[in-house]
Amino acid sequence: MSNKHPIGIFDSGIGGTSIWREIASLLPNESTLYLSDSINAPYGEKSPEKILEFSVKNTELLLEKGSKIIVVACNTATTNAIKILRNTFDVPFIGIEPAIKPAALQTKTKSIGILATKGTLSSALFSETLKKNTTDITVIEQVGKGLVELIESGKLYSNEMTSLLTKYLNPMLEKNIDSLVLGCTHYPYLIPQIKTIVGQKVTIIDSGLAVAKQTKSILEKFELCNTLSIVPTYKFYTNSKKSVLKNILKDVELDYTIKKRKF
Ligand code: SIN
Repeated sequence: MSNKHPIGIFDSGIGGTSIWREIASLLPNESTLYLSDSINAPYGEKSPEKILEFSVKNTELLLEKGSKIIVVACNTATTNAIKILRNTFDVPFIGIEPAIKPAALQTKTKSIGILATKGTLSSALFSETLKKNTTDITVIEQVGKGLVELIESGKLYSNEMTSLLTKYLNPMLEKNIDSLVLGCTHYPYLIPQIKTIVGQKVTIIDSGLAVAKQTKSILEKFELCNTLSIVPTYKFYTNSKKSVLKNILKDVELDYTIKKRKF
């Protein structure tokens, strides 16, 4: 595997582009190949077996296309499949776990909220992380049912979105949370809308930058950093409409290509 090969990234859809943005910004010499499995979104409502099946299929395509490492830019896929992926494929994997630890370390009210998918909140990895980090803290878990579907269909700023977010976040505010963990890579695209509801007193925590830093340190550890001075390429593959990805990336100034293909 050559160091100029891309970092492979996959998600159930377009949400993992929030992670891609951090990676492209922190590692400007690295090419990336992103798979948006939008046809199967949301993973959060699927069975663990299905989530594993999708994760394996995505990994196989990324490896076939020469990815040197794989970033699982999806909390649901990480919490349900990353252990098996690591045991099955001979390539380093970086996953996304909800940032429970940083939230637990910074809360003053001893009350934190976690918004994630059903698949993430019911996973064994999530329960382990929660148990390890939140002994003296009240944790309000909320399934963000319907949010991924609205994001995938471009309805980020819609009345439906506002009313779902209000319904999910108000009970957390009543329990006096001061930190809100975004446990799904789609949700960073909702930060402006969430801020309008929770106000300034609640810190919103997402994992994007931490994942990019972890990707950098894994590349360094395995001596996989691209040190050649080439212009990196940013390729996106989707198995659904290209316009959905195009729309979420409309503010990106880097040159990238989007292809529709079956996977
Ligand atoms: C989903 O596909 O349900 C959400 C993806 C995630 O958990 O990050």
